[in-house]
Amino acid sequence: MLPPEAPLHSTRDAAYRTNTDGAGRVGYARAVRLNPRLAALPTYPTVVLDQKRDALLAAGKPVYDFGTGDPTEPTPAFIREKVGPAIAENCRYPTVLGGREVREAFTGWAQRRYGVTLDPATQVVPTSGSKEVVFHLPLMVIDPEAEDRGVVFPDPGYSVYYRGTMLAGGEPIPQRLSGDFKQRVWELPKEVLRRTRMLWINSPHNPTGAVLSREDLRRTWEVCREYDILLCSDECYADTWFDEAPPSILEVAQEGVLAIFSLSKRSGMTGYRTGILAGDTSVMRQVRVLRTNPGLAPQDFVNAAAAAAWGDDAHAEERRRIFKAKRDVLVDFLAHAGLEVVASEASFYLWVRVPRGYTGWSYAEKLLEVGIVANPGHAFAVTDAADDFVRLALVPDVDTCRAACAAWRTLL
Ligand SMILES: Cc1ncc(COP(=O)(O)O)c(C=O)c1O
Repeated sequence: MLPPEAPLHSTRDAAYRTNTDGAGRVGYARAVRLNPRLAALPTYPTVVLDQKRDALLAAGKPVYDFGTGDPTEPTPAFIREKVGPAIAENCRYPTVLGGREVREAFTGWAQRRYGVTLDPATQVVPTSGSKEVVFHLPLMVIDPEAEDRGVVFPDPGYSVYYRGTMLAGGEPIPQRLSGDFKQRVWELPKEVLRRTRMLWINSPHNPTGAVLSREDLRRTWEVCREYDILLCSDECYADTWFDEAPPSILEVAQEGVLAIFSLSKRSGMTGYRTGILAGDTSVMRQVRVLRTNPGLAPQDFVNAAAAAAWGDDAHAEERRRIFKAKRDVLVDFLAHAGLEVVASEASFYLWVRVPRGYTGWSYAEKLLEVGIVANPGHAFAVTDAADDFVRLALVPDVDTCRAACAAWRTLL
């Protein structure tokens, strides 16, 4: 930090001062100028929660962390073992398309899982997790000068739909969900659809676990086709469900559609950063153009591990069994406690209505008194749609879930 009395370098901009420090270097007296859109974004919700959790841990208190959706079950050994041998002696720049192996492994999975045929050469791109795709895609579509720069997304929803839209200069259009928390795009006013360029759906849905039926997906696609809207379907929880496998938009249509998949929860690979973007051939051509600019391409050794993961379904099934066991413990407890679980058909979240007299925030604070970390619904919403809910991510193991229920019981 340089002295505030530094002289103005340019009278055109008082916020951007330079001076010479004792060593004769030129430096900035005040902060560099920043993108005001960045400053306008709310604090990332998990930051606040992590601070509170860390304070509990520092105080030596027991913590039952249902906050961040980062599973603790190990990545299967057969996936981990692929990484080392795939690190070449000279690890060259990876390409946006990645090797054929990972794309073919993914299209093989799509064929097994949905009976859908995709061309690995033109319809699939590996990504560094799905978050970066959600964030970057608006840059491909949004013209910040245009009137029709709207991006519709579910609210509550994954906060990156909003963040990516904002930073690309789009108009964020949250579609407020309630009741069963299913997103019914066909209920949006025509005037909103006319200024929308891009529309996010997310099934299974974070934070509520709601699932869109094949018929819902078909109706959604028809609306997007009618209004020339790029339909982006975030299906990062496609293989994380409890009773019935959710359908994909790709079963319904591929024209004007992009679908996003992830190995983070399916295969316990959050730290690898590996996902897939797949869909309409002509749109995917533009996706490759977009991604060439910053050089968005997973490392080849990550793609090798991803290929192994997409090639196997048994481990995904085993992980579902584990998540379901945790879910059963919590659902049973919550029913006895008289707390309503809403939606929660798939993903690895439980969406719990807080008792009368509380908000999601105040109840999350109450839960923290006994060491239970839950996300207040508010953290996922731009509107007030989630104010009366908390989200539990099924992260702690079954025994810890039981211990958490015992702690929770003391609050009832
Ligand atoms: C709906 C949704 N989309 C995308 C992501 C990003 O996941 P990843 O980048 O780990 O694939 C998440 C992560 O929690 C999510 O909940």
